[in-house]
Amino acid sequence: MLVEIKGRRALFACLVADVSEEEPFRASFPDRAPIAIFKADGAFFALDDTCSHGQASLCEGFVEKGTVECPYHAALFDLRTGAALTMPATEPVTAYAVEIDDGKLYVVVGPT
Ligand code: FES
Repeated sequence: MLVEIKGRRALFACLVADVSEEEPFRASFPDRAPIAIFKADGAFFALDDTCSHGQASLCEGFVEKGTVECPYHAALFDLRTGAALTMPATEPVTAYAVEIDDGKLYVVVGPT
């Protein structure tokens, strides 16, 4: 569901309670690719769920020190920027700003 949060377009992704440091959340949408929601060191991050190197779900990866490791070939992606930090991935995944409102987590997808 597309909503306006602080003057920007955002998608409702999940409840805050749906995400933990141990269990990322894969937010699915009817009209776009899934987005992975991570919690690390108390902060939330959102990245395109599909690895830029292949068809792996980053939600199934290993989160450590501000990165997620792809479960297929172990490329590391920066949780804040989506940058590919190690081979074999060379392209970033899209990173999204996250907004929390009333226990709900939204992913910012653009200006209004
Ligand atoms: S599919 Fe992610 S590194 Fe290959």
